[in-house]
Amino acid sequence: MNIAIYPGSFDPITLGHLNIIRRTAQIFDKVVVCIMINGEKDTAMFSPEQRVRMARRVTERIPNVEVDYFNGLLAEYSKRYDKPVVVKGLRAVTDFENEFTMALINKKINPELETMFLTASEKYTFLSSSAVKDVARHGGPLEEFIPIEILDDVRAIAGKGKY
Ligand code: PNS
Repeated sequence: MNIAIYPGSFDPITLGHLNIIRRTAQIFDKVVVCIMINGEKDTAMFSPEQRVRMARRVTERIPNVEVDYFNGLLAEYSKRYDKPVVVKGLRAVTDFENEFTMALINKKINPELETMFLTASEKYTFLSSSAVKDVARHGGPLEEFIPIEILDDVRAIAGKGKY
C-alpha cells in the first residue's frame, strides 16, 4: 500500500490544505494527515485537540484519509509506516527554501524518507493559516478560506479575543 503523510500545523486547516489532501488521496492508497504538535509553536490559536477535531470533520467523507497527531520529529513518526512518502504543498518560491531544508533534514534523520511536493492550486496560492487567523481575529469573512464545516468553530474560538 502506498502511504502519504501530509504533515503540518493545521492551525487551522484551510481550503488550501484540503485541496492538497484531496489530490494526494487520488494518487496514494492512503493519506495520513499528521498534525505536528511542535513545542515551539505555543502561538497556536487552536489546541491540538481542536485542530485534530476540525481536520477529522473536514476529511471524514474522503475514505482513504485519516487524521493523526504527533509531538516529535516527523522523521521518527514516519517510521510507523512502510516506506511512506511525505507530501507537502508549495504555494510559491518563497515556500521552497524552507520546505527544501526540512526535506533534507528529514532525510538525514531517516534516509529512507522521501518528500514530494504538489503545487498549490492557483486558487489558493495566497492562503495560509496565519492569514486565516488574522482575518478571524478581526471578525472578517472566512468563507473563502476555510471549509464550511469549521466556520463556526473558528469564529467562536477566534472571537474569544485571547489572541
Ligand atoms: O504547517 P507548517 O507549520 O508549515 O508545518 C511545518 C511542520 C509541522 C511540518 C514542521 O515544522 C515539522 O515537520 N515539525 C515537526 C518537527 C520536525 O520534524 N522537525 C524537523 C524538520 S525541520
